[in-house]
Amino acid sequence: MKKNIFNYQCKECKKGYVKWQGNCYECGCFNSLEQITQITNLNHITAKLPSLIDTITIEKKSKRIITQISEFDRVLGGGILPDSVILLSGNPGIGKSTFLLQVVCSLSDSYKILYVSTEESEEQIKLRLLRLTNQKLNWYILQETNFEVILQTIVEQKLDIVILDSLQNLTMHTDSLLNHIQRIKEVTQKLVEHAKENKYVLLMTGHVTKDGEIAGPKALEHLVDTVLYFEADESSNLRILRSTKNRFGAIDEVGFFQMTENGMQECKNPQEIFIENNKPNIGSALTWTKEGSRSFLIEIQTLLISSRNHSPQRTIQGIEHKQFLLLCAVIEKYLKIPLFEFDIFSKVTGNFKFRDSHGDLAIIISILSSYLNKILKNKTVFHGEVNLSGNVLAKYTIPKKLPLEKYGINTVITGKTIEENDIHAEKKVIQSIYQIINLFE
Ligand code: TYD
Ligand code: MG
Repeated sequence: MKKNIFNYQCKECKKGYVKWQGNCYECGCFNSLEQITQITNLNHITAKLPSLIDTITIEKKSKRIITQISEFDRVLGGGILPDSVILLSGNPGIGKSTFLLQVVCSLSDSYKILYVSTEESEEQIKLRLLRLTNQKLNWYILQETNFEVILQTIVEQKLDIVILDSLQNLTMHTDSLLNHIQRIKEVTQKLVEHAKENKYVLLMTGHVTKDGEIAGPKALEHLVDTVLYFEADESSNLRILRSTKNRFGAIDEVGFFQMTENGMQECKNPQEIFIENNKPNIGSALTWTKEGSRSFLIEIQTLLISSRNHSPQRTIQGIEHKQFLLLCAVIEKYLKIPLFEFDIFSKVTGNFKFRDSHGDLAIIISILSSYLNKILKNKTVFHGEVNLSGNVLAKYTIPKKLPLEKYGINTVITGKTIEENDIHAEKKVIQSIYQIINLFE
């Protein structure tokens, strides 16, 4: 078979060339030569011997770097894996830099660390650090935006961990043709390659930009091993750390922190933040959610006020909009309550987002409580999905570990289940939302 020795081809007439040239001799077109990307010249390539799958042994997992910030270690899947590349993102001002400084401080005794700041001066960082700790610390700081200088410094310093805060305003000597996003992608790719080759941990931050996902960290996810992001619940200073990608662990564990005067503190008992107080409130109903390996009681709060608008407002947080409208329609239809006369504000405490529909019943109870201006007779947890006929169903059972006794909860109301619930509270099964009006005082 005749071997294809051409590296370029005219896209108009398909004539092949070994070297690139400005125009095609065959058809005369200018700038029509393209590099041939198919596999060519196979005679230069040596074959490899494939391995039998049974002969492959798995290297013992490297020991993880434990930061002692247990909510952080948990999200990472048990600490930082050596030589891994982590991207931490979140809105500007959410606390990324503060948090990373704390990570640096807790690791600086055992590892050689460089913190590269592209945004703040060394003095600014030192000032911030004084709010976080009064310990004597030995880690290095560099204020620099030029990517080539940063790489050179990393090579010379022989580091274990490099923090780069942030990616957004890095510059390159040779980037004149690249736009902002292309430059960040290019730089990130080079940094990742460098970290892998030289075997150090690279922790970078990138803030979510106004044009959101495209220009922000989303565009970089495929380049790194782990992507973490901070979410905020401003009302409680809560910061929730999630992971959207983790090559070395699960992605459903979350970490809870609170922004305080002295930096980001771990929430040792996040449950306490999610239920605002122990007394029954008008417009409030309890249900539960699961985050990673932990289950929490959470509260739905609703406020109804007479609407002055032509079309009433529905301002909701944490509940899917369509699902909320559906539940409002169910209430209007079966309980004959004119919700269209009211503006409704509803939220899930702790900035949680419902991923399934077992919270339907609690949402309906919370709306009704505000409408009736009444509280529930018993301290109750609700667990049930409500369908378009107003029937209440429960696909699975309530987790046993919920701290019902601690919060004085004596009643659990669920829909009809197939499995038996085995919990320490009086359990009532209701079949339809017609039965809920008499739950109120
Ligand atoms: P920062 O870490 O700079 O956010 P990011 O790097 O994500 O942009 O956080 C800035 C905010 O945090 C700022 O409003 C000040 C506040 N803050 C505290 O509340 N407590 C602290 O101890 C520190 C250092 C900052
Ligand atoms: Mg910052």
